[in-house]
Amino acid sequence: MLKNDQLDQWDRENFFHPSTHLAQHARGESPNRVIKTASGVFIEDRDGNKLLDAFAGLYCVNAGYGRQEIAEAIADQARELAYYHSYVGHGTEASITLAKMILDRAPKNMSKVYFGLGGSDANETNVKLIWYYNNILGRPEKKKIISRWRGYHGSGLVTGSLTGLELFHKKFDLPVEQVIHTEAPYYYRRTDLDQSEEQFVAHCAAELEALIEREGADTIAAFIGEPVLGTGGIVPPPAGYWEAIQAVLKKHDILLVADEVVTGFGRLGSMFGSDHYGIEADIITIAKGLTSAYAPLSGSIVSDKVWKVLEQGTDENGPIGHGWTYSAHPIGAAAGVANLRLIDELNLVSNAGEVGAYLNATMAEALSGHAHVGDVRGEGMLCAVEFVQNKDSRTFFDAADKIGPQISAKLLEQDKVIARAMPQGDILGFAPPFCLTRAEADQVVAATVRAVEAVLG
Ligand SMILES: Cc1ncc(COP(=O)(O)O)c(C=O)c1O
Repeated sequence: MLKNDQLDQWDRENFFHPSTHLAQHARGESPNRVIKTASGVFIEDRDGNKLLDAFAGLYCVNAGYGRQEIAEAIADQARELAYYHSYVGHGTEASITLAKMILDRAPKNMSKVYFGLGGSDANETNVKLIWYYNNILGRPEKKKIISRWRGYHGSGLVTGSLTGLELFHKKFDLPVEQVIHTEAPYYYRRTDLDQSEEQFVAHCAAELEALIEREGADTIAAFIGEPVLGTGGIVPPPAGYWEAIQAVLKKHDILLVADEVVTGFGRLGSMFGSDHYGIEADIITIAKGLTSAYAPLSGSIVSDKVWKVLEQGTDENGPIGHGWTYSAHPIGAAAGVANLRLIDELNLVSNAGEVGAYLNATMAEALSGHAHVGDVRGEGMLCAVEFVQNKDSRTFFDAADKIGPQISAKLLEQDKVIARAMPQGDILGFAPPFCLTRAEADQVVAATVRAVEAVLG
């Protein structure tokens, strides 16, 4: 097919891109890359550039690109039944099968799954369910949600509030008053450099408890957290963190939402981050890896404890007043069924664990000694490299120097590897598809070393 050279102009004139510097883009000062096709871990733009996507889109194409099994399932579903709603008890073979497959994989205390379209709307659903839950239990004051600074939970009104990143609040009048934030479990960025990991965990738990006591436990409904902080910097929790946090939440009768939009379905080398860290959640958020992004689909998995109260609520008040036209969309559900089958058949969860550990170890070996690399960290198929001006005093670069974005741009320019400059800090993030091979991991590491050397010497 001939290249359409008007696309560039049409893009700048018509397309409002998310998370983009709108003015620069409209003026033609930022790249506009038109992606045409993809296979495995590689994407290809319309100019024929083949790029190794070490971030799996937005850490979502877990099964890898170009999977014909998922594409065929979507096509078959579209031909047989493109749409029917799931209100008042309707379902399709795909949506019912997928709900069963999810519950078969989820932690044992989980009961039902509500389907949405993306991670943001799933977390909006969760907040509504939590408010409903406490109203049914006769605790109308117990409504606030605690999130962590640097958490990422979406960019809607409540979910943008839950997100603990300044960019998502500034000039949007967020966070809303029902959302409050506590300390991120980010050991490398601890304020007191003398603290051991164990002391830092105790400090995070104490900060949480102090916040609860200040606000009053009878006003706090839930705590939400990603098993591993994602967009906030790709930060695995220090040892013992989840145990300490859960003890505080239990003591104050506060629900726990595990946001597994990134970690769900295998990214840590375990089916769920909750299994990985011994998290006993009351609600689990899923999206991205549920369909490997072949179609939009998300879910809120609710536990027996929450489900019982929701049932009581509808006995008392009638049908639940919540739903989207596209809840459990058959095409998303068909993609989910095919994706989860493929992940099992190809053993992709264990590959994510094995090759992910290899990627992390190789990256650490190659870069830990660099004068401006302060931290190399990760878990499963998640990896991050954090840059500092001075390693000994842990002095960060000025944000205006844009070291992280410069390194990711260099990586792309020199070796056609995509990694993500994380939005808060000079942090380069990696979250490849689970089918990454060791040879591809070596390629990513070698390219990263070259990019770091080109920018920082
Ligand atoms: C942990 C987490 N929760 C929620 C979301 C929001 O998902 P979406 O962008 O599909 O609305 C994201 C997106 O990156 C995420 O990483």
